[in-house]
Amino acid sequence: MARTIDQVGVVGLGQMGAGIVEVFARSGLVVVGIEPTEDALERGRAHLQRSTDRGVKRGRLSAGEQQTIFDRITFTTSPADAKDCGLVVEAVPELMELKQAIFRDLDEVCQPTTILATNTSSLSITEIAGSTGRPDRVVGMHFFNPAPVMKLVEVIRTVLTDAAVVQDVVALARRLGKTGVSVTDRAGFVANALLFGYLNRAVMLYESGRASRDDIDAAMQLGCGLPMGPLALLDLIGLDTSHEILETMYSQSRDRLHAPAPILKQMVTAGRLGRKSGRGFYPYASPGSPAVVEDAESTATSGEAASESAAGAVNRVAVVGSGWRADELGATFADAYHVRLISEHDAAMWVRDPLPAALEELRTCDLVIDAGDDDLAAAQARFETYDLVAPGAVVATASLTHSVTACAAAASRRPDHVVGLQVHPVGRDQRLVEIVRGVETSDATVATVRAVVDRLGGRALVCSDRAGRVLHALLVPYLNDAVKMVDTGYATADDVDAAMKLGCGYPRGPIEQADDIGLDTVLAVQRALYLESGEPGLAPAPRLEQLVAAGRLGRRSGRGVRGHSAR
Ligand code: CAA
Repeated sequence: MARTIDQVGVVGLGQMGAGIVEVFARSGLVVVGIEPTEDALERGRAHLQRSTDRGVKRGRLSAGEQQTIFDRITFTTSPADAKDCGLVVEAVPELMELKQAIFRDLDEVCQPTTILATNTSSLSITEIAGSTGRPDRVVGMHFFNPAPVMKLVEVIRTVLTDAAVVQDVVALARRLGKTGVSVTDRAGFVANALLFGYLNRAVMLYESGRASRDDIDAAMQLGCGLPMGPLALLDLIGLDTSHEILETMYSQSRDRLHAPAPILKQMVTAGRLGRKSGRGFYPYASPGSPAVVEDAESTATSGEAASESAAGAVNRVAVVGSGWRADELGATFADAYHVRLISEHDAAMWVRDPLPAALEELRTCDLVIDAGDDDLAAAQARFETYDLVAPGAVVATASLTHSVTACAAAASRRPDHVVGLQVHPVGRDQRLVEIVRGVETSDATVATVRAVVDRLGGRALVCSDRAGRVLHALLVPYLNDAVKMVDTGYATADDVDAAMKLGCGYPRGPIEQADDIGLDTVLAVQRALYLESGEPGLAPAPRLEQLVAAGRLGRRSGRGVRGHSAR
């Protein structure tokens, strides 16, 4: 039977600690908030004041309720004041020695029955527990930022943790209105292990200059429906905290994809810590404010000079292909253009034996989109033909994996008029369109495609020629990591999906998303990314290869990573 905990302590009242205090106090618990100095205590109190003021301003909290929350909290510099607490949560910076020292102190002053919890994101709970005389009563209690909003609490047990303690903490999480997911002690647990590889890749992409800050965030926010783009999220979490988490994950996994992108360290050194310091990837109205102010980067589009180039007029569009991708593209362009759908078979015929009638049709098109579902060699053969039959047209590949530059090389007469094009439906009438520049793609070609995107009512994003473009290059490895995690048995598909939905506010979990996109597409992009980079961490999950080989492709085939019929 679960033990009820009514009084709790929180050590460290930074962004996370103050949020955790708020969560406890809002749920009716008596809270002791501890910081070593009066100044730090004051900062924690101010944090709580700002957060609850916001609740009052939005009508979510009455002034009386706000007062009651504060009445439940004692702010103190003395850890001894936590002696009667049923549970104490530590939320100080990610430094093992600091955490161990705090746990030693708490072990001394608290009752033998007190549960000691750490909110660490990545450090070993087992090592922290080892610094106390009660390792059986030590757990991880990992909240997500902003703690009052996010619904997940990861409850981490070590090999020494008493099962009843885990039950008590999961029950407490439930009382706080959260979902407690119980996992074992492994770097990054479930959510951070999946999240931080993705965040780090986004920083690397930004650092490489292959896509702009705003485009990277727009790709993930608009294209995947995430509540925030990765760079904005890093600013929220704090670049110092993010750097510490990545360092710890890297030291444990030795996966180079977890080695913090160098620019992260540089930004931390320069005092650009994110929202809390008023400047991270974005500039904020003031330290702690969520309001982003405009800067020179706000309008930057990947080193693009497109606006100065004359856009050619597009009136007629041809879509070549016979799969679902071609059908979707045809439907999208039909909203604003006269569209001619041509099967790959017909297009292949032209290579050998041009059919005059079809050729005439294609000759009148200003934009030819190749959406063939086949290999690069077949696509290149078609690109050679387009060069002959549609000499004035911009030619685009809709492939997620074919190199734009390789397609352009086949269109040897005018490789400058070849681009990549990825159209992502966002909402009913919204679209995000990735325009991919090959080595030879001209500014005028990009400008022409931008004008097309405008006419479709879409948000254009320009990026360089790499597998997966921006969106899938960031998304797919995260899905692949999730499949690997389920395959190792560390967490179930349901737990993985719940962790990302409740911890990060994602509309879908990664397993659901992989099944929705199609495991064959996920595998193709992952393979292409692996080949392109040679990074061992980007190798496709063996389970993914097996599922695709077995014909379990996700929602389209009725079965995917989950054995039962996919939703
Ligand atoms: N404290 C308290 N409440 C807050 C808050 C805060 N810091 N920030 C937002 N809220 C509340 C608002 O009051 C509002 O509540 P009501 O609807 O009741 O009025 C609600 O959240 C929505 O806020 P906003 O309208 O201001 O802003 P939004 O809709 O843009 O949402 C967001 C903001 C909740 C942060 C949302 O963008 C989001 O979910 N982002 C993803 C955050 C995420 O991924 N977190 C996990 C990070 S990883 C981590 O934390 C683990 C780790 O170890 C580092």
